[in-house]
Amino acid sequence: MTRLSDAMKETAALVDAELDKLLLEPKTPESRLVEAMRYSCLSGGKRLRPFLLLTSADLFNVTKSGALRVAAALEMLHCYSLIHDDLPCMDNDDMRRGRPSCHIQFDETTAVLAGDALLTRAFDVIAAEPSHSDPNVRCQLVLELARAAGYTGMIGGQMLDMMAADLNMDLVEVTRLQQMKTGRLIGFACEAGAIMGKAPYNERQILKAYARDIGLAFQIVDDLLDVEGSTEEMGKRVRKDVDADKATFVSFVGLEEARKQAETLAKQAISYLDIFDERADLLRDLAMFIVERRS
Ligand code: IPE
Ligand code: IPE
Ligand code: MG
Ligand code: MG
Ligand code: MG
Repeated sequence: MTRLSDAMKETAALVDAELDKLLLEPKTPESRLVEAMRYSCLSGGKRLRPFLLLTSADLFNVTKSGALRVAAALEMLHCYSLIHDDLPCMDNDDMRRGRPSCHIQFDETTAVLAGDALLTRAFDVIAAEPSHSDPNVRCQLVLELARAAGYTGMIGGQMLDMMAADLNMDLVEVTRLQQMKTGRLIGFACEAGAIMGKAPYNERQILKAYARDIGLAFQIVDDLLDVEGSTEEMGKRVRKDVDADKATFVSFVGLEEARKQAETLAKQAISYLDIFDERADLLRDLAMFIVERRS
C-alpha cells in the first residue's frame, strides 16, 4: 500500500508544519505551557484524523488551506485527549509515541493545563476566518466538534471507560463506549470535509456510515494491539487493559473474534463508498490499514 503510506506521510508533514505555525511559543513566563503543547503535538503519531479530514475534504473540492487548519485543530484536540488519558488519575501511562508522556516530561500540573489549552486552541483555530469563508460553516464545524468531543461523545466515553470495571457492561454497552470514546472524533474527521464542501445530504450520510464502522474497527484493533503488539512498534506501553480491568471487545469475545469483527467492519465501510468511485480509493486503503496496522 505505497499509495496510502505516501499520502499519509505527505499529510503528516503538512500537519506538522501547520501545527508548528499555529502553536507559537510566546516569550513570556508561561511559555512552558506552549512548550508542553508543542511537545505533545509535534511528536509523531499516525495523524489518522487529519488524514481522514483532508481526504474527505478533497472529495468536495474544499480549499486546502482551510481544511488543513481544521485538520490541525482536530489533531490538537486528539493530542489533548492523549495527554489527559495518560495521567496517573486515568490510565497512568508513562510513555506515548515513543517518548515520555507529557506529565512525565513536564509535570502533572503542566500536562493538565497543556491539555486544556489544546482543547480551547482547537476551537479558536476552527472559529477563525481563514478556516472557511462562510461563518455558518465555521459555526457548524464548532458545533459538531463540540458534540463529538464532549459529554455526548469522547469525554462521555472516557467516563464509561474509567467506570467499566464497576459497571458490568454487556457487549452492546461496550460498543457504545467505544463509539463514544473513539468513534465520534473519527466521525467528525470524516464529516468535516462534507460540511466544509457543503456536500449533498446523501454523500454526507455515506461518510458518516463509513466513519462509524472504521471508528469502531479502529478501537477494536487498538485493544487487540494492547494484547498482541509491542511497545517498540506502538510507542506506548502494552498489555495494560487486562490489568486495569478495561471493558474491551477483546475481553468480551476474545482475540480471534475481535479481529474478525474489525475486518468485517472495515469491509462494510468500504462497501459504502461506491458512489465516490476511484476518488475514494485512499479511504478504501485506509479502512484496510486500520485493521492491518501494527502501531
Ligand atoms: C490512540 O489514537 C488513542 C485511541 C483513540 C485508541 P492513535 O492510535 O490515533 O494515536 P496516534 O495519534 O497515532 O499517536
Ligand atoms: C483512549 O483510549 C481514547 C481517548 C479518547 C484518548 P485508550 O486509553 O485505549 O488509548 P491508548 O491505548 O492509551 O492510546
Ligand atoms: Mg484510556
Ligand atoms: Mg490509554
Ligand atoms: Mg488502548
